[in-house]
Amino acid sequence: MSSPPRQPEISAAPVITLDGPSGSGKGTIARGLVARLGWHYLESGALYRVLGLLAARDGIALGAPIAERDIAKLSALAARLQLSFRDGGVFLEGEDVNAQIRSEAAGERASRIAPLPEVREALLGWQRRCARPPGLVADGRDMGTVVFPGAACKVFLTAGVEARARRRCAQLKELGFNVSIAQIHRELGERDRRDLSRAVSPLKPAEGAFQLDTTSLSAAEALVAVSARVARDCNLPEISAGNFPES
Ligand code: C5P
Repeated sequence: MSSPPRQPEISAAPVITLDGPSGSGKGTIARGLVARLGWHYLESGALYRVLGLLAARDGIALGAPIAERDIAKLSALAARLQLSFRDGGVFLEGEDVNAQIRSEAAGERASRIAPLPEVREALLGWQRRCARPPGLVADGRDMGTVVFPGAACKVFLTAGVEARARRRCAQLKELGFNVSIAQIHRELGERDRRDLSRAVSPLKPAEGAFQLDTTSLSAAEALVAVSARVARDCNLPEISAGNFPES
């Protein structure tokens, strides 16, 4: 999706939120839904990952605690973030930074910035403006709880840490990273701890969310289960999960 145009933040477009920890399958399911519904897609984790990249480029230290002046710098960067998502790329002021934000180190930088309330606040309007007709599929950690509390359909995915580490490891290897399951398992554990324990927008299911444990489900099985709930909540005809995943 390209940078959303400035418009009122309350939108009539229906929203589907998919929240959960890394490797729970939310990105895969979100893309499956987007392909079938033809709706817009907001991958909110990319915003935090890009901020992590900008912090690294600016030499901002992200050890705890982050210095006051650096928090101010990060909030300013968040407030004027110029991002667009198109053709599988993530463009920061025209530069495709997709490859630079996919490593586990980039995920860790993102999760060090994510607890800052000033940054989260600065990103709110941008995210909400993504809800445009015909509809939006949004994935992240706080889509159903904070960013889109009025979403038509809320989903929360979980999976055991071993399964999540295995999936992340496979994804990262496919992207050309040299990683081991043991290393990813350790890093995911750390990231989970930070995402679950932070004071602002911690990872948790939204009230009334459809919760699905994907540990022993294939991607197609998970899409079937989520699609049934989406069709019901959004009053849509049956969504076929056939031919999934597409690649
Ligand atoms: O989803 P992804 O793994 O790309 O997210 C990277 C990090 O960004 C997460 O570990 C989390 O700390 C943060 N994040 C967040 N809120 C979101 C999406 C991501 O705090 N809505």
